[in-house]
Amino acid sequence: MQAARTIEFSVNGAPVSAEAAGSSLLAVLRGDLRLRGARFGCGEGHCGACTVIVNGRAVQACQTPIWSLAGADVRTIEAAAADSLVAHVRKVFIEEQAAQCGYCTNGVIMTLAALLAADRTPARRDILAVLDERHLCRCGAHPRILRAIDRLLNVEAARR
Ligand code: FES
Ligand code: FES
Repeated sequence: MQAARTIEFSVNGAPVSAEAAGSSLLAVLRGDLRLRGARFGCGEGHCGACTVIVNGRAVQACQTPIWSLAGADVRTIEAAAADSLVAHVRKVFIEEQAAQCGYCTNGVIMTLAALLAADRTPARRDILAVLDERHLCRCGAHPRILRAIDRLLNVEAARR
């Protein structure tokens, strides 16, 4: 019988090892590591509730196999304590009350943090296209989410 292959990566700066076979990143985050900020929504890559940042890119953790994560840097919403950009986006969402039930919110925040890390002044239409493609909000909190996005963009534009 073959020994299980172990994959080493980091989550919010802390080293993690997990078995390569059979698990998604979301299962390891929520189950093994008890990090519940990434939500289980559809489990099929449609809703975006499970979005985290891997090597600087927003990805759906439910669709990310552990075997693909060797050496990866994984950031979750819980990184907000140490990641100023995630913390900033989360703060604006809280101040704008940009959620209803909040189930989609952490994923949206992580996608926005990844987009802003790559480009501090992205085009509004590009942000909306990404959110439209990758995130579902069943509560219809879109007007408040848009308000938070506009505030984030205005803050970044003022910094230029
Ligand atoms: S739970 Fe991962 S995309 Fe819906
Ligand atoms: S706030 Fe409830 S799903 Fe978006």
